[in-house]
Amino acid sequence: MNTTYAATKRSQRGLRARPDAIVGLDIGTTKVCVIVAAPDERTGTLTVLGVGTAENAGLARGIVVNIEKTVQAIEQAIEQAETTSGIQIERIIVGIAGDHIQSFQSRSAVAVSGAGREISRSDIERLLEDARTVALPSDRVILHLFPQDYILDGQDGILDPIGMSGVRLESNIHVVTGLRSAVENLYRCVERAGLIVEDIVLQPVASSIAVLDSAEREVGVALIDIGGGTTDIAIFDEGIIRHTAMFGIAGNKVTDDIKKGLGIVHAQAEQVKIAYGHALQESILHDEVFMIPGINGRKPIEVTKSLLCQIIQPRMEEIFEFAFAEIRRSGYARNLSAGIVLTGGCAQLRGAAELAERIFGMPVKVGVPTLGMGGFAPEVQSPMYATAVGLVLYAHEARTGKSSLGVGFRANQQRHHVRVGYRGIIERIKTFFDHL
Ligand SMILES: Nc1ncnc2c1ncn2[C@@H]1O[C@H](COP(=O)(O)OP(=O)(O)OP(=O)(O)O)[C@@H](O)[C@H]1O
Ligand SMILES: [Mg+2]
Repeated sequence: MNTTYAATKRSQRGLRARPDAIVGLDIGTTKVCVIVAAPDERTGTLTVLGVGTAENAGLARGIVVNIEKTVQAIEQAIEQAETTSGIQIERIIVGIAGDHIQSFQSRSAVAVSGAGREISRSDIERLLEDARTVALPSDRVILHLFPQDYILDGQDGILDPIGMSGVRLESNIHVVTGLRSAVENLYRCVERAGLIVEDIVLQPVASSIAVLDSAEREVGVALIDIGGGTTDIAIFDEGIIRHTAMFGIAGNKVTDDIKKGLGIVHAQAEQVKIAYGHALQESILHDEVFMIPGINGRKPIEVTKSLLCQIIQPRMEEIFEFAFAEIRRSGYARNLSAGIVLTGGCAQLRGAAELAERIFGMPVKVGVPTLGMGGFAPEVQSPMYATAVGLVLYAHEARTGKSSLGVGFRANQQRHHVRVGYRGIIERIKTFFDHL
């Protein structure tokens, strides 16, 4: 039983518990989004039972900077999702992002232990346990371990060693870490809202599950999720997640440029960007003049679409060039036969895919998340919901033992089965992280 004030308040609303429900909580820089889904008994596919969204002013560039505002936004989105689904939400899968996230490659090795030296799942688990012992600065925690390929008795390039025979199993592992304080603050917000963290997932990892298909992951693809505060990248090749990266330039910077360039307020800049914005001059077929009301009795401002584009395009070019530099740094730029998939709210900007195609010199498409059929599924079919949909799919895959993230990938789940009440939270978070 959850005893926090927020949880008690919610449990008084006549909601019912549903143990098989999966709840994704995407705490974005511009909005919090909650998706409640449950597997259909007959087909095993997920049905969206409820959705909740709320504006969020508690984050900057993907990390929590104001706990009160973030908690309020989470509570508001959760309440809405509970009302639409009729389900009392207790456990959630939460996404994490921000430019504190870092990743590196590490190598682990174990002696194969099973009868007949046949490699089993438990050998891979021990290999991952070994990777967890890698020396990290005390202010960082491991968020994900993605095995890349396996080396069996010196023979490399093995993608799936289960069932093979050998003595010594090694693996190159992509290790993703986050700043301890940023992770703790995320936990703190979620738990203050009366919720239990079932798992914590890197946002681009979640988005990639929602918008990429297995063929794209196999031939090589880079997912770029351009949100409000962060641009997140996940690169796949041969069906395995190879690289993750993120940086703090995204849609909010575009809005800021419009605000400064035209001398208008933030809300107007946001409206103008969505209504008239283009990322590429050539994609404007009919230039058009539009008016922006003046502030406090001043005369309205007359702006053309192409002038607006002159403000937007350089910033979008910067975002794509930063992303391209990250992709080149990963060493996978030449392996991306399926090119680039753009998602996140900014992918909806007109001309964004065309501009990206010019910069990357590769095919670019906009990825829209799909999540089963029926229920509220159509409501979440927008690039803005890629992360929230992906969080639900991630948990579903973890529960059913299937993973789109490559052989040997294991969700963190068990490690996060820690109930932390509002009171004594700091002590318990400490204990929890000491166990990581
Ligand atoms: N139709 C549109 N055209 C252009 N930009 C849009 C459109 N719709 C949304 N955006 C922009 O997308 C951004 C928000 O995207 P998203 O909802 O993916 O961000 P977030 O998840 O809240 O933030 P982050 O993931 O960076 O923490 C905002 O900058 C918004 O202006
Ligand atoms: Mg986002």
